Amino acid sequence: MRIDVVTIFPAFFDVLEVSLMGRARGAGILDVRVHDLRDFTHDRHRTVDDTPYGGGAGMVMKPEPWGEVLDAIASDATSPLHFVFPSPAGRVFSQSTARAWADSGEHFVFGCGRYEGIDERVFAYAATLGTVSLTSLGDYVLNGGEVAAMAMIEAVGRLVPGVVGNPESLVEESHEDGLLEYPSYTKPAAWRGYDVPEVLLSGHHGRVAEWRHDQQVERTRTRRPDLLSD
Ligand code: ADE
Repeated sequence: MRIDVVTIFPAFFDVLEVSLMGRARGAGILDVRVHDLRDFTHDRHRTVDDTPYGGGAGMVMKPEPWGEVLDAIASDATSPLHFVFPSPAGRVFSQSTARAWADSGEHFVFGCGRYEGIDERVFAYAATLGTVSLTSLGDYVLNGGEVAAMAMIEAVGRLVPGVVGNPESLVEESHEDGLLEYPSYTKPAAWRGYDVPEVLLSGHHGRVAEWRHDQQVERTRTRRPDLLSD
């Protein structure tokens, strides 16, 4: 899967070299390329922002460097482009978004905004090159799109076949079936006065499966009732 990232802080994405994502990149399963937006400026100060028309606080990212970097990426597209602009004003990302994106066969481009945002015309221009999504990680505000993009790249990337060693572990985890995951235990069976639930030591697969499902439903009901209501 090909993923491009546009940012003024490429260092945020250094962690993609670590752990499963790093291994998947090394193995050629994930091809992630990070572009510094300032490389697409032409002034001495490598300016990427300016004051907002109409006034107001903060600065807005200028459209010209964005236009150039999007053109450069589009000229090297490997499949239909999907531009994702992380934004607290977007639709909320979820496991079903991650699944749809991982299965889409699209070439993803994460455009990370800073300051008060990106000039609105950039989204209209990107829509002439591919699909555009404004996507929020949740109802809180980060300093920019980088951390949100990292989270989305990991959530999508780990669903690409070969990234996670044991594909079965993807099936049983939280949110895949709309329920939270059941509790897990390992040895020792008794630890500091806490015992592993008896049923898990029984070796009875049917009872274990039933207990785990009951735990999933109960946890979801108490912690995330919103997941059961729709
Ligand atoms: N940028 C700033 N806050 C964000 C959020 N909650 N989700 C996605 N991008 C963001």
